[in-house]
Amino acid sequence: MTEHVKTEISDGVLTLTLQRPEKKNALTGAMYNALSDALNQAKVDPSVRVILFQGDGDSFTAGNDLADFASQARGESAVDSPAHHFIQTISEVDKPIIAAVQGNAVGIGTTMLLHCDLVYLAENARLMTPFANLALVPEAASSWLLPLRIGHVRAYAMFALGEPMEASAAVACGLGNAVVPQAELRKKAHDAAITLTKRPAGALKSTKKLMRDHERIEAQISEESQLFKQRLMTPEAREAFTAFAERRPPDFSKVA
Ligand code: COA
Repeated sequence: MTEHVKTEISDGVLTLTLQRPEKKNALTGAMYNALSDALNQAKVDPSVRVILFQGDGDSFTAGNDLADFASQARGESAVDSPAHHFIQTISEVDKPIIAAVQGNAVGIGTTMLLHCDLVYLAENARLMTPFANLALVPEAASSWLLPLRIGHVRAYAMFALGEPMEASAAVACGLGNAVVPQAELRKKAHDAAITLTKRPAGALKSTKKLMRDHERIEAQISEESQLFKQRLMTPEAREAFTAFAERRPPDFSKVA
């Protein structure tokens, strides 16, 4: 467990709150592990009927901790395994998952939403997947799920141009259920969670199974993960992480 993820079970709802607001809830290895452990327990705990993700502070999450990526790129820590394990775990959860998203949801902050069943967005929510700018490739099966959901050209603009998607556009193209004033966001998501706890769990499980092609998702995650690990070790990626640490735009003109 980590002090940066709060887990709470109440009235059949497991609430997972990201609590690293000073770093925009950027996800460290320890945070991924805490989330994976909580999801794995939720899978087998009959008292958990619904899972709810939320983040403290002004951002849902700024995605993977870029200092962790940088240390992986330098070969100082294992490449991507807690993140990869979290992605596999969330994609296998057969209980309903809800997300309450305010502010920035970057990288995995957006791709994990593709594994949620209800997504509520505050008015200031901004979904971003700037993988190409980090010299990386999409993860969490998003290279298949995002174009499937919003079409190739919009997904490409998010992946390759790093174009953010504002809350109302995200709802219009099926990435969210509703835009909610920020003050009401958590209540809206929690109310939906409580409603789902009262639905028959077996019917919900079968419905989710019918709606998700798990084999396809697993195959995509595996293909992406191989490329992602290779990309992390490239000079392009090192330049991207160094540029972020030095608070300057990356310059890819001199790296192959
Ligand atoms: N990893 C590590 N630290 C991060 C982070 C990340 N992904 N995102 C933000 N932070 C840290 C910043 O370094 C800063 O730390 P400091 O106060 O010690 O300098 C702090 O969080 C606040 O971030 P800042 O950039 O000042 O906030 P902002 O409101 O101007 O911008 C973001 C917010 C999310 C748009 C911006 O931080 C950002 O683009 N982050 C990187 C997102 C990213 O590329 N994630 C990886 C996706 S795969």
